[in-house]
Amino acid sequence: MTALPARRPIRELPDELVSQIAAGEVVERPASVVRELVDNALDAGARAVVVRLAAGGVRSIVVEDDGCGIPMEELPLALKRHATSKIGSLGELESVRTMGFRGEALAAIASVSEMAITSRGADAAHGWRVDARSGELQPAARAQGTTVEVHELFFSTPARRKFLKSEATELAHALDAVRRHALARPDVGFAVWHEGRAVAQWRAAGAEQRLGDVLGRDFIATSRPLETAAGPLQLWGRAGQPEAARSRTDLQYLFVNGRYVRDRLVSHAVRAAYEDQLHGSKQPAYALFLQIEPELVDVNVHPTKIEVRFRDGRAVHQAVQRAVVETLAATRANAAAPVAPPVAVPAAEPAPAVAPPPRPSWQPPLPLVARDVAPPSPAPTAWRDPGPRTTPAGSGGLQAWAALRPPAAAEAPTVGRPASGALPEAAPAAHPLGEAIGQVGGVYVLARNAHGLVVVDMHAAHERIVYERLKQAAASAALPAQPLLLPVSFAATAAEVATAEAEREALLALGLDVAPLSASTLVVRSRPAALPDADVAELARSVLAEFEQTGASRSVERSRDELLATMACHGAVRANRRLTLPEMDALLRQMEATERADTCNHGRPTWRQLTMKELDTLFLRGR
Ligand SMILES: Nc1ncnc2c1ncn2[C@@H]1O[C@H](COP(=O)(O)OP(=O)(O)OP(=O)(O)O)[C@@H](O)[C@H]1O
Ligand SMILES: [Mg+2]
Repeated sequence: MTALPARRPIRELPDELVSQIAAGEVVERPASVVRELVDNALDAGARAVVVRLAAGGVRSIVVEDDGCGIPMEELPLALKRHATSKIGSLGELESVRTMGFRGEALAAIASVSEMAITSRGADAAHGWRVDARSGELQPAARAQGTTVEVHELFFSTPARRKFLKSEATELAHALDAVRRHALARPDVGFAVWHEGRAVAQWRAAGAEQRLGDVLGRDFIATSRPLETAAGPLQLWGRAGQPEAARSRTDLQYLFVNGRYVRDRLVSHAVRAAYEDQLHGSKQPAYALFLQIEPELVDVNVHPTKIEVRFRDGRAVHQAVQRAVVETLAATRANAAAPVAPPVAVPAAEPAPAVAPPPRPSWQPPLPLVARDVAPPSPAPTAWRDPGPRTTPAGSGGLQAWAALRPPAAAEAPTVGRPASGALPEAAPAAHPLGEAIGQVGGVYVLARNAHGLVVVDMHAAHERIVYERLKQAAASAALPAQPLLLPVSFAATAAEVATAEAEREALLALGLDVAPLSASTLVVRSRPAALPDADVAELARSVLAEFEQTGASRSVERSRDELLATMACHGAVRANRRLTLPEMDALLRQMEATERADTCNHGRPTWRQLTMKELDTLFLRGR
């Protein structure tokens, strides 16, 4: 946080400045009072803030702080409208660093409640209490700091009081207000009491610690840290992993210069960053803290300061989107400490799973093992080489996958690796997702890594890999096409034939040469080279359906991504396809090298880690 300027006396704002300030309702409910009073406490440099509520805040709200206090002679002014110690000129309004600047909050609260302020400044011999209604001043006992008491909110306006919700709801809103402050100011301690019971307490802490204290450990375990600077803008916080997305927007926090705000521009940027990893209605969880020169953001746009306006909205949008995209692109596999929600993986343990197990005495002689697991021909496959066992990450990708498609004999069922004694174990540390050990149920690939067992949904994972590759290829040019030796024809509806004709160019750009053979037959003469495994007729049908559905109105970028996603689904390895160990390894390596590989195109996870600890727990094994 920027250091606060030394306290200045409270002054009435000049009229022309008053007219510049966004006017309107300041107090809507108890939570707005809480927010304003805590804002004031923080502006006063408080290190500890205590909030006491009764009846959800409707009966009373008391906020105590240990800030700089208000000198006795200024107490009456503090209650006056448009009197503030925080700004004095338009220039200061435009570069304001404090939460307050209108000189409005206390007056607004006093007008709809019974309010009193007790305060003691730094040099005062004792405190003073002022009653807002009568203006009466009395000496009072108090350490340095301020206590504001607000009783019977809206007592004189029963119509407004009627609009308040249940006590529990108002309490929840009030708690939310403090929670936001607590997130913005980890260096300050907060406590909230309701009807004499402590309902929340956050001790002063580091930023990361406070995030966990307020938003929960689950959020930390299922989100990734983010920190970036772009010109005059700094951004940090955490972005939730797509698979931890929620049905509500309740875990979306944005702070601009320490102020909780709602901003459509920034939320749009975040949403866009999650675009192809999140299912339509799912909401990402995030807490983002944006710091920007105060001159570059207008905080005076909404009477409750809940909105801001950036001078250069585009730059902010870009910076936020990029930062979140980059955070999400780094897959868990490559993150320093892999996090497999919901259970956090302990810091890298020695790798017991990969140490060669002692050979049991009953083990059959070697030749038998070798015959059981290693196909006698063809000649040794890649994994027998002592050198790199598989395609290096990033090189080849899909092509590498295709290249590793089974030589005939390798289609044989995979039953596991040769006995570990027979071959040197691959260094697992080099490959975060480890080495493949088999396939289960035609759907899952199992691998062992330094942390234990990795389970991969092979279709979902491969779909993401193919999709990312298609996107990359399509970004620069038309997708390379692979002519079919034997064109494939299929029965088509009239609509499909019409779409094939109308969208011929667009289809060719996707590597698909689809043409009518007759009024009810289409023929496919080429397919995208990147999809060697796709059933071309099915692929063509889905792509045509996509074109029909989105029609002419589609937004180019978005619909292209949707198309590519559809194509990827067809190009990805299908369930029940038997994979060889080298193929499985190739898949793992491609996942490690692919951005956003932790989730499939629909936001589902592509892999999970079962740690040794979790395995041990399954077997009630104390470690
Ligand atoms: N807890 C506090 N500790 C010290 N001074 C305070 C405290 N609360 C209010 N004040 C003083 O009273 C003045 C009026 O407070 P008020 O909240 O009404 O206006 P503001 O904070 O200046 O602007 P805004 O209306 O935007 O909140 C402040 O400018 C500040 O000088
Ligand atoms: Mg204020």
